Amino acid sequence: MTTTRGLREDDDPITMLTAYDAPTAAVVDEAGIDVVLVGDSMGNAALGYDSTLPVTFDEVASRTAAVARATGDALVVADMPFLSFGVDEAESVRNAGRLLKEANADAVKIESGPHTVETTRRMTEVGIPVMAHLGLTPQHVNQLGGYTRQGTEQDAAEEIIDLAGAHADAGAFALVLEHVPANLAGAVTEALSIPTIGIGAGPDCDGQVLVINDAVGLGEWSPPFAKQFGDVRGEMVDAVEAYKEAVTSGEFPSEEHSHVEEDLDDLY
Ligand code: KIV
Repeated sequence: MTTTRGLREDDDPITMLTAYDAPTAAVVDEAGIDVVLVGDSMGNAALGYDSTLPVTFDEVASRTAAVARATGDALVVADMPFLSFGVDEAESVRNAGRLLKEANADAVKIESGPHTVETTRRMTEVGIPVMAHLGLTPQHVNQLGGYTRQGTEQDAAEEIIDLAGAHADAGAFALVLEHVPANLAGAVTEALSIPTIGIGAGPDCDGQVLVINDAVGLGEWSPPFAKQFGDVRGEMVDAVEAYKEAVTSGEFPSEEHSHVEEDLDDLY
């Protein structure tokens, strides 16, 4: 079983993918992916919202429990949704604890900033492993004005380096770096003793993460830094059209997919 301590046991890059339901988590786990992230990206990827902001604590908890039930080896990380942390320290710690205690997560991820250093320390102190997240933090979309690259100016890059160190010192076991220049991600990775996991952050992180819809080609759109390794949407469209055609033509269900009880002969 993957543990937060054992994440970088060998030199292989860490692999992380999101999953929001049991069948997807089972596939991800069976493929040997190290970490399953129950990301608040479920807002766009699974729940039909326009952003991650409407995602509720209960939605993350329910999806995390489903993912944990289907996962054997991979580390299950639950993403703390908007306003479930960061407003009140005690409430943040309690909410994080509930994701471990009630939903069986192994760790939580929080979109980080200056306000989450102490929260990370407090969570870690009570036994909640924390994955930090810097760079593009989509819960700040209303302040960022879009899902834009971060850390492109010297000041902003230095702030990310400082915050990365502060979260590592506060006890975070890993750090997600999203949509930042590859050379900045490389510098952060070099400076930290905890592993970095990049998304749109170049090849020099200790690991990589993608949203499952982007990785398997399920979404209608994916960000420029994501690569589609399959065409699941195309496969689903073909299957659904084939089903419709088979039903409307009378080809399905055939005898093979039906059963007849001799004792019910009188009914026909
Ligand atoms: O919510 C999510 O899926 C994430 C990843 C993109 C890192 O935060």
